[in-house]
Amino acid sequence: MAANLQVLLDNRPTSKCSPANFRIIETPIPAPGPGQVLVRHQFLSLDPYMRGRLSDAKSYADPQEIGAVMGGGTVGIVEASNNPQYKVGDAVVGMGGWQRYGLSDGRGLRAIDAKAIPIQAYLGALGMPGVTAWYGLNKIIAPKAGETVVVSAATGAVGSVVGQLAKHAGARAVGIAGGPEKCAYAVKELGYTVCVDHKSPNFSEEMKAALPNGVDGLFENVGGEPFAQAMRRLNTFARVAICGLIASYEGALTTLPDMRIFLVKRFKMEGFIVGDHLNLWPQAIGELATLATAKRLTWRETIRDGLENAPQALVDLLRGENFGKMLIRID
Ligand SMILES: NC(=O)c1ccc[n+]([C@@H]2O[C@H](COP(=O)([O-])OP(=O)(O)OC[C@H]3O[C@@H](n4cnc5c(N)ncnc54)[C@H](OP(=O)(O)O)[C@@H]3O)[C@@H](O)[C@H]2O)c1
Repeated sequence: MAANLQVLLDNRPTSKCSPANFRIIETPIPAPGPGQVLVRHQFLSLDPYMRGRLSDAKSYADPQEIGAVMGGGTVGIVEASNNPQYKVGDAVVGMGGWQRYGLSDGRGLRAIDAKAIPIQAYLGALGMPGVTAWYGLNKIIAPKAGETVVVSAATGAVGSVVGQLAKHAGARAVGIAGGPEKCAYAVKELGYTVCVDHKSPNFSEEMKAALPNGVDGLFENVGGEPFAQAMRRLNTFARVAICGLIASYEGALTTLPDMRIFLVKRFKMEGFIVGDHLNLWPQAIGELATLATAKRLTWRETIRDGLENAPQALVDLLRGENFGKMLIRID
């Protein structure tokens, strides 16, 4: 029987995050106490927010504790249960952390249907990133048919869902992604009208050409130059959803243009954190699952094998080397 492999935060990054910030240990498989459930994890989600938690700077989420198992979303199968709500063999999603086995008292755990839909989708399009896309698009941008919605990190876990939902709403979805392969996928598979490669030397001209009618909705995942370019083309009464600023997590800060733009364009800009809207998750996941079952929602994954590769996979995610949802398959 395999031991419980665990990945701990060993020390905080002083500049860019590296595998040397983590420590991997083996511990005995824990036994569930009264009311507890033992879950054997099958997949771990790697997410950009984890970089923020490696720092002890004040943020919306508490810092990750040094010497503790890294926090993170997981899906797995109940292996032993002293909790009447869960039985052995149930598929569940929760925050089990970077470890092969997790104990839970049932709070924050949710049973899922892993027969019709692959289990790891509950960490992506039908999980936190999907709900993030749903919330930012529907509750902040609220696109009308014919409007133009720009989405940065257009093929990523969040962005890929935003683009498809925007298209279903009748909007003209314009993606921004890194490289020709991602841009081709954005148009052919995700339904973006056009996708602009932010690594192109002609990025600014290509953005101008892609946005003949300006920008009515901006779903911002990246910050930096893609954000600056999209902001230059805002229409009056545009809505800007600030979802993430991944280019700034280990890079230069993203700044706002001259504040007069708020007056001149009368636009709305709103930052949001999906965890503040837990009441809407069932509705969002329900709608996303309906679309997935009807084959009107697709996604892509980058899967790395083995928990011991999670630190490098996080580093690669922060460098933009993933193509779709970044996951670790746990053996
Ligand atoms: N507000 C919330 O509640 C919430 C919840 C979930 C996620 N988020 C945020 O949403 C954004 C997307 O998250 P995700 O999980 O869907 O990740 P993701 O998009 O699957 O992966 C990150 C992508 O960002 C792009 N990117 C662009 N510039 C980058 C740069 N300078 N460095 C690194 N990556 C760069 C890369 O795609 P390209 O190669 O196409 O550029 C990369 O693949 C992140 O900013 C994240 O923090 C926010």
